[in-house]
Amino acid sequence: MPTIEELNELYERNPLESILPSGSTAQKKKRPEPKPQAYYDEIKKKFAEERNIRVNYRPKGSAQYTSDFEGSLSKYLTDPYGGEIKPRAPLNDTVEVLFIGGGFSALLTSARLREHGVDSIRIVEKGADVGGTWYWNRYPGVACDVPSYDYLPLLDEMDYVPKHRYARGDEIYEHCQAIAKKYNLYELAVFQTTITETRWDAEERMWNLKTDRGDHMKARFVICANGTLSKPKLARIKGMETFKGHSFHTSRWDYDYTGNDLSKLQDKVVGIIGTGATAVQAIPGLGANAKELYVFQRTPSSIDVRDDWATDPNWARALKPGWQAKRRAAYMAPPAMTEEQRAAYAATTREEKIRRQENSNIDHMMRIHARIDEVVRDKATADALKPWYMFMCKRPCFHDEYLPTYNRKNVHLIDTHGKGITEITEKGPVFEGKQYELDLLIYATGFEVQKTGIYNKIMGEGGLDLNDYYGDGIRTLVGIHSHGYPNMFIMGGYQASFQFNLTDILNTQGEHIAACIDYCRKNGYHAMDVTKDAEEWWVQEVISHRGKTTRNQDCTPGYYNFEGEFNRRQDGTYNGGFAKYIAKMAEAREKMDKYFSFTRKN
Ligand SMILES: Cc1cc2nc3c(=O)[nH]c(=O)nc-3n(C[C@H](O)[C@H](O)[C@H](O)COP(=O)(O)OP(=O)(O)OC[C@H]3O[C@@H](n4cnc5c(N)ncnc54)[C@H](O)[C@@H]3O)c2cc1C
Ligand SMILES: NC(=O)c1ccc[n+]([C@@H]2O[C@H](COP(=O)([O-])OP(=O)(O)OC[C@H]3O[C@@H](n4cnc5c(N)ncnc54)[C@H](OP(=O)(O)O)[C@@H]3O)[C@@H](O)[C@H]2O)c1
Repeated sequence: MPTIEELNELYERNPLESILPSGSTAQKKKRPEPKPQAYYDEIKKKFAEERNIRVNYRPKGSAQYTSDFEGSLSKYLTDPYGGEIKPRAPLNDTVEVLFIGGGFSALLTSARLREHGVDSIRIVEKGADVGGTWYWNRYPGVACDVPSYDYLPLLDEMDYVPKHRYARGDEIYEHCQAIAKKYNLYELAVFQTTITETRWDAEERMWNLKTDRGDHMKARFVICANGTLSKPKLARIKGMETFKGHSFHTSRWDYDYTGNDLSKLQDKVVGIIGTGATAVQAIPGLGANAKELYVFQRTPSSIDVRDDWATDPNWARALKPGWQAKRRAAYMAPPAMTEEQRAAYAATTREEKIRRQENSNIDHMMRIHARIDEVVRDKATADALKPWYMFMCKRPCFHDEYLPTYNRKNVHLIDTHGKGITEITEKGPVFEGKQYELDLLIYATGFEVQKTGIYNKIMGEGGLDLNDYYGDGIRTLVGIHSHGYPNMFIMGGYQASFQFNLTDILNTQGEHIAACIDYCRKNGYHAMDVTKDAEEWWVQEVISHRGKTTRNQDCTPGYYNFEGEFNRRQDGTYNGGFAKYIAKMAEAREKMDKYFSFTRKN
């Protein structure tokens, strides 16, 4: 996920605008006149105070969460959408390419593989259909936060233009299904099935995969497409298992309980824990339908103008074939700078650049604060909704109904001043001695982040568990290849570049992976493995670009900065920039023999 250094680089290129939705009102706002430095320093001091409050309150790092839903917590993982598990005989067959996971990573890479003539492609997916994120997350209000014309992959290939600037979740899910149909991916796909073991058989030189359905499949190539944010996590809260009301995680929304239009909540007192990007989208619908809604906040999100619109049919009709590829190319092109600008930039010291970035970041956050004051009538509530941290310390949110929801009489913000809910009884959460009695408690507490091999044990050459191989730090080439794990490719993991639009990265990785597989097939190689040297070179590249500023430590805790916990420099994203990341991948493909070892089948 974004490390701040990477974002710094974006800021340096194109302050703030580079990560705001293009064309948004927020982006068009004129920059305010600069204020005296003392003004910015005061705000930075407040940011640090607020950060420290949170770091001191919360249990250490990610240990405050659990994503191992054993025993009474297992209900939080149950799929409410897939219906009964359909009985089937275990599979004992072989495919050429197997995807672990059926989200965008699998779908867009499959499309590229089909272009290279690969027939035998299997998706194995825990859910009952393709879609990944967009299968699981069906909470009310779910939509993308990157313009859909850029976020939805394969729009050229599918000859499709999304209906809104920010496509709704159901439309994105349908797009995933349409891709699977067009590329004939349903034929070999296996749903309601979790890969539990992925083991390289050194004799057969094939991957052997076991599942929770008793399958024993084999595959020549395996692609870990298990998602960056797909395994739900819960805050470990004392007494949570004793709650007698109804409860679920946002990625397992129980529409039987709430009603499809949430109308069944009219006589219900509802609570939601968390105010991240998910909660921000879900809360307006809950506020409009629940009898009472209690929002338990630990840290507020930054809420900017959304500026959504229905796609203009005339604009859509006028688009020429290849329009999405053109948009992508334009985005990736380096920003145009005049000679004068370039010279001025080069002459500015690093300290001055950072100071300017920080000041403009603070101006932006104060505009976010001012909008809250304009919209939220109750002053105490407005103040509690103000985020005191630099922009992009957390995923920024864009919404036009979230803030007004707090003007409803039935909506109550329970601001825990950074402490969070630490106790739940059979009646509901307790904060500062006050019991909040609820019918329904919703956990909007997020997901495990960017882990390769969720629900799964991956063993490479010599039976080495990938977690043990990464014991002293993640080791990959371009975030995709790990030495000793031949013919295995990782998507959406660490040591790759970070982009606000995740499909920018996934598209790039998918093209690279498909090209690697094509190279093996065309050259008669059975297997490829990254060399130890190439892997070590990349680990050092990642390290050299991380930790150059203190922004990671300065940010309020969250998953972007590993919950404020120390982490090794190699265990994060590659911060050398997207253009360099793409160039390094291209170089690896051009000099395959330098970066990889290849073997033929005996
Ligand atoms: C609510 C939400 C909204 C988001 N909105 C945006 C957005 O607007 N813009 C953006 O850029 N990004 C967004 N993201 C990030 C989003 O996850 C990515 O954009 C993208 O969809 C990831 O695709 P993926 O295929 O890599 O992973 P996923 O879509 O997460 O799919 C991975 C799949 O793998 C399956 N799986 C995992 N392990 C196993 C196993 N062992 N066996 C079988 N199946 C397994 C999972 O069930 C899951 O369905 C959002 C994330 C969330 C949670
Ligand atoms: N398209 C979109 O707009 C969209 C929508 C949803 C999700 N997403 C993606 O998915 C990511 C995850 O979003 P998410 O909202 O599901 O998860 P998240 O950002 O990780 O948010 C989890 C929330 O739970 C809070 N929390 C944790 N423990 C708590 C406790 N004990 N008491 C009270 N609050 C507690 C956290 O507070 P702290 O902030 O204090 O930690 C945070 O607000 C996003 O960052 C984004 O990348 C995108």
